[in-house]
Amino acid sequence: MTSHLTIAIDGPVASGKSTVGRIVAQELGCRFLDTGWMYRAVAHAGLSAKLDLEDQDKMTRLAERLTIKLVESKRGERLLVNGIDVTDQLHDSRVEQGVVPVAAIRGVRRILVDQQRSIATDGPIVMVGRDIGTMVIPDATIKFYLTASPETRARRRYEERKNTPDSPSYDDVLERLVHRDKIDSQRAESHPADDAVIIDTDGLDASETARRIIDLIEDA
Ligand code: C5P
Repeated sequence: MTSHLTIAIDGPVASGKSTVGRIVAQELGCRFLDTGWMYRAVAHAGLSAKLDLEDQDKMTRLAERLTIKLVESKRGERLLVNGIDVTDQLHDSRVEQGVVPVAAIRGVRRILVDQQRSIATDGPIVMVGRDIGTMVIPDATIKFYLTASPETRARRRYEERKNTPDSPSYDDVLERLVHRDKIDSQRAESHPADDAVIIDTDGLDASETARRIIDLIEDA
């Protein structure tokens, strides 16, 4: 068991976990890792190499060769893959759709989970994803699972993306979100950990959700 503070925040697509996790990390002075970025980085690398994203062997070998680094810069957190900053491409539609088959590949998951565990041992951290409380840090100090209705989550994602170059319509966002939920929920580890505190964020904004989490950590 790690002796430092490890906070696991899981939840489905656009449940607010990244925004909330960032606020919690900042307030508590911890590092922050959005593990979804790592799966997106592998999908982006597969697309750049023109690989079939469903080819388990090729994608696993590709993931083995990638050096994924999160760095702080004046523009906030940036994700470097083999030294190249890919942050701005991680939410492109092609990556958004490509990450679904990539995250389903066992070999890719094993490699990324190992890297995430090693990052978690380095010091206090807030880590967000789908399987942090169940698989990556099952002995986390405290675990949260954020939920919200598909419509609330689609509205949030739509608002976030609406002024970007290839912004999708609300209906497209909702349809893709339901599709990703369905695939993610078929993985045993993508469920709330038995000891996770479940927070329904319908009707709560990110700072209210973060406040609730910080209060629960301070009371624990
Ligand atoms: O959270 P985000 O939408 O950025 O995650 C992108 C995809 O990566 C998700 O659809 C999910 O399939 C996958 N993922 C995962 N395990 C994690 C984080 C993300 O399977 N810990």
